[in-house]
Amino acid sequence: MRQLVVSVANHDVELASDELWRLGVVAIEERQVPDGVELWTSVGDEFDSVEMPWAWRFVEVDAAVADTWRQFAKPIMVEADLVVQPAWVSYDAPHESTVVVIEPGSTFGMGDHPTTRLTLVAARRWVQPSTRVLDVGCGSGVLAIGVMLLGAASAVGIDIAPAAVPVTLSNAQTNGVLVDVSTTPLEEVVGEFDLVLANILAPALVELAPHLRRVLAPGGTLVVSGILDGAHDHVLAALQPLEVAQTDTLDGWAAVTLR
Ligand SMILES: C[S@@+](CC[C@H](N)C(=O)[O-])C[C@H]1O[C@@H](n2cnc3c(N)ncnc32)[C@H](O)[C@@H]1O
Repeated sequence: MRQLVVSVANHDVELASDELWRLGVVAIEERQVPDGVELWTSVGDEFDSVEMPWAWRFVEVDAAVADTWRQFAKPIMVEADLVVQPAWVSYDAPHESTVVVIEPGSTFGMGDHPTTRLTLVAARRWVQPSTRVLDVGCGSGVLAIGVMLLGAASAVGIDIAPAAVPVTLSNAQTNGVLVDVSTTPLEEVVGEFDLVLANILAPALVELAPHLRRVLAPGGTLVVSGILDGAHDHVLAALQPLEVAQTDTLDGWAAVTLR
């Protein structure tokens, strides 16, 4: 399995990660090194080189080694009665818990990242039987599937990463819910949604801001995450005239609910 490793200074992590998302990678691991951060991500054979202002290299990694994290995966208690369960881990859910079973494949969205947890908790506050949800950057489908299990009327997931489509469909089937998933760019999404979720990085949120506002139904709710606690004023400025209703934070990350 080939990994692309990009070496950046601490202050360039967000920018470089955004460049990687644009290349269509599905997950990025940050490794702290003495002179900054290395961003590790799996890439297929389609890239021979990448154009980036940072040092980069390809590293061949044994697929079995890259997957060792699976042995240590545990159910993630998002809230006392809301759990994300790795599909290969057995778990006896307490009565009346909502359990989202996820096989992430090569996508982002095992449910353990603070931004996923924050977005799911924030989304839950707004889900009603009539709620139509759009999940922008659905990855494994964890959020779209989560809101369906919590009682939403419908969920649409979109992602620039093609792998997100079969993974989300398969996870939706495992959980017994329907999610309409595609690689349709947000710019081309038609219709309005009562609840829009976007757990993607700040530069992408700023770029997509006009369309995040456009697809929001009148009186609707937008939850944005993938942003750092205390460093997202520019994202909120881009989303005006939507106003902040609530900010949740965890481990240095934030999810902001706007209305
Ligand atoms: C941080 S992951 C979030 C995955 C999942 N929604 C979660 O909360 O765990 C961000 C996802 O957004 C996707 N993405 C990045 N830029 C995007 C864009 N402009 N439009 C749609 N998806 C995008 C990435 O491919 C990735 O799957």
